[in-house]
Amino acid sequence: MDSLAQYKSDFLDFLKSYDINETPEQLYKPIDYILNLGGKRMRPILVMMSAEIFSGQHKQAMYAALAVEMFHNFSLVHDDIMDDAPLRRGQKTVHEKWDLNTGILSGDAMLILAYQLFEHYPDEQFKPLAKLFSKTAIEVCEGQQYDIDFEQRDDVSIEEYLKMIEFKTAVLVGAALQMGAIVANQNKHTQDLIYDFGKNLGIAFQIQDDYLDAFGDPEKFGKQVGGDIIENKKTYLYLKALENDSSGQLEHLFSISPKNPNSKIETVKSLYNSTGATEFVKKEIKNYTQKAYKSLDDIGIPQQQKEILIEFGDFLMNRSV
Ligand code: IPE
Ligand code: IPE
Ligand code: MG
Ligand code: MG
Ligand code: MG
Repeated sequence: MDSLAQYKSDFLDFLKSYDINETPEQLYKPIDYILNLGGKRMRPILVMMSAEIFSGQHKQAMYAALAVEMFHNFSLVHDDIMDDAPLRRGQKTVHEKWDLNTGILSGDAMLILAYQLFEHYPDEQFKPLAKLFSKTAIEVCEGQQYDIDFEQRDDVSIEEYLKMIEFKTAVLVGAALQMGAIVANQNKHTQDLIYDFGKNLGIAFQIQDDYLDAFGDPEKFGKQVGGDIIENKKTYLYLKALENDSSGQLEHLFSISPKNPNSKIETVKSLYNSTGATEFVKKEIKNYTQKAYKSLDDIGIPQQQKEILIEFGDFLMNRSV
């Protein structure tokens, strides 16, 4: 069985063999830039791991793995425009390095390229892969729209937040694992079980992303720390703190856009701590991770194989990036 580093290096080798340097340069350079900026590569690794644990090999999953990473990077290019984000993986975002139109069109092209990668599979795999991909992609759009809508709303419930992160983030993690199961010819029941594992892991992952956005180390995080607070994002930290903040200070801070956001970020973070929201959210990350691990119980593969996924889950939840 391969180590995590081995999966990652297999993926990077495959990425290198996929030549993106075509013309017009203005369309393809940004694609090459964002895809080679680094990143954890968690989604392609999950596609590969899933294929491996079900079939003992992951080579046949490489095109699906690249498709998922391509889609993820497309969603980041457009997300950074929508979130007005200056930094991605420690470097300039595509729309900052080039311009808005470049970000829009290169992102569009990446979505198409992701679809195209499934053409490498025979019809009996292509169809379920493409169907799952389309369902997932439209849900990601729905999740992204809720995320944007919530910036303007002051009555977002925790239930609505959880649905939003399930759509914008968790369904793609679930789909990555299900794709691995599809190329490994697993039945629908097994596909659904591994999807559920990914979905709950993805929910934990996004709550952790929100936590790191506020409390991450600016030297390591690679994104603008406090970006969610500047954008008035209705994160779990915010919603839980709001429940417990009788002073009304938090709600007020989220209704203004100050010229110098640093003092807003610091005050909001101290409210997250003093209201107990930070501790609560840390527990929820653990809860959803455990819920994910529980979904593995009914999958008929040896425990040793499941441990690979659990180890990766633990690695993700202890990350600083
Ligand atoms: C960032 O995803 C977007 C979210 C869904 C939180 P990752 O944290 O996986 O980003 P990279 O690919 O490792 O940079
Ligand atoms: C991103 O959520 C979800 C998608 C890109 C679909 P975020 O906006 O929290 O992701 P980051 O923090 O910018 O990576
Ligand atoms: Mg963002
Ligand atoms: Mg966003
Ligand atoms: Mg984020």
